[in-house]
Amino acid sequence: MAIRNMVTDDDPILHKKCREVTSFDEHLSILMDDMIETLHSFDRAVGLAAPQIGILRRVVVIDVGEGVIELVNPEIVAQKGKQFGPEGCLSYPNVYGNVERPNYVKVKAYDRKGKLFFLEGTELLARAFCHEIDHLNGIVFLDKAKELKEIERAEA
Ligand code: NI
Repeated sequence: MAIRNMVTDDDPILHKKCREVTSFDEHLSILMDDMIETLHSFDRAVGLAAPQIGILRRVVVIDVGEGVIELVNPEIVAQKGKQFGPEGCLSYPNVYGNVERPNYVKVKAYDRKGKLFFLEGTELLARAFCHEIDHLNGIVFLDKAKELKEIERAEA
């Protein structure tokens, strides 16, 4: 396992669409282990998407304090309600802003072995699903945030 370097400073890679994972192999496992270690190297970070470490693949790890969630080729298949609150990003460590997100999200994804599963989340977890899946489509929270502020807050 290794902590990877974070892509920051609005690098163009953060605005590119990621490709689907097609090989559920050892290479993917190493990537995901490294992403988890990288995520946990930051205080208060709740999620990391592969493009944030320079890998344009559809892979996400999330930890809202209830254990690590691994998502490969994730898709939002249902959403309900609205929440509006502060959001940040490890790739933009000095700003946060209020972002509107659904309050409930259902995700379809694969695990690192290629097994399909569905997962539901509300509040912070729903927000994390949306934020990280946006990353896979080259969308960052700054594209959606209102009232940007230069203070460190919870990072997603
Ligand atoms: Ni982010």
